Amino acid sequence: MTKRVVSGIQPTGNLHLGNYLGAIRNWVRMQDEVAREGGECFFFLADLHAITVYNDPKELARNVRSMAAALIAAGVDPAKSTLFNQAAVSAHAELGWILNCTARIGWLNRMTQFKEKSGKNREGASIGLFAYPVLQAADVLIYRATHVPVGEDQKQHLELARDIATKFNTDYETELFVLPEPMIPASAARIMSLRDGSAKMSKSDPSDMSRINLTDDADTITAKIRKAKTDADPLPANPAGLEGRPEAKNLVGIYAALADTGAADVLARFEGQGFGAFKPALAELVVETLGPISARLSELERDPGELDRILAHGAAKARAAAEPVVAVAYASLGL
Ligand code: ADP
Ligand code: NA
Repeated sequence: MTKRVVSGIQPTGNLHLGNYLGAIRNWVRMQDEVAREGGECFFFLADLHAITVYNDPKELARNVRSMAAALIAAGVDPAKSTLFNQAAVSAHAELGWILNCTARIGWLNRMTQFKEKSGKNREGASIGLFAYPVLQAADVLIYRATHVPVGEDQKQHLELARDIATKFNTDYETELFVLPEPMIPASAARIMSLRDGSAKMSKSDPSDMSRINLTDDADTITAKIRKAKTDADPLPANPAGLEGRPEAKNLVGIYAALADTGAADVLARFEGQGFGAFKPALAELVVETLGPISARLSELERDPGELDRILAHGAAKARAAAEPVVAVAYASLGL
């Protein structure tokens, strides 16, 4: 069977270097890796998952677009991969409902993420938040995905998808659903704030100096890195020497992630040098990487019709794959 990978990402706005190195770049790599094996990727903006908690409608619409634009600008190629937003393919919601009738309450009660996400106010959480692993099952089963990239925290949900697929296939004597295998994604970098090495780089940090936005120009990037918090010591000979120096460790980690190498390799180059030398080199590398991405991003922003066309094209391709599967699901049920 040809490899078919399906993956979704929650739409988020004000994207930064952490989002790029921790999430967006992994999709670009996955796309190229899967293409080399002759397979294909379906990538979607998970807007139906976003509404399991309240989202301001205008902001959600903006975030879906800016996440899509960032993915394309970073190299997700709509000619190679099927890129779309989930709400544009109604089959997700339809199969989600059908599978709500297959999944058992006991199975969902065992999902640890709901306990974490609902917190103390379990009774006040939406039914959608409780049932969202079922929609996730529909998201992948609808494309008869063979592989799904999952981090540690999502393994339980993929198991659930396999259980749901097995029960549906058994109950209705069909072989409609393919049992997807987990795919271990390339280890994602975790980027910390430029102002505090113990806090994650995040859009919710009130200080804009704490993060590098995908839309920052070269001068802004260089200034932010120049002002990034560091210590006065020179760079050590090896990664062990970065322990207890979170800010230094973060800057070396950013360099390593961008250069696609390890901290040891970066330190071999910069050992004994101070941040006066290291920061300009890092700034240059960040500018070199983000420059083309932000240029493509502003192009897409100037031409919103182009983004709409890309997403509409992706949604049409996704519908063509999903609708026949939903039709068989209905027929299997006698509907
Ligand atoms: P933020 O923390 O800025 O609100 P989100 O929570 O919206 O970002 O995350 C969107 C995606 O980007 C997720 O896949 C998340 O793991 C990744 N991500 C966010 N911040 C970082 C970071 N500092 N380092 C690595 N990955 C990150
Ligand atoms: Na967040």
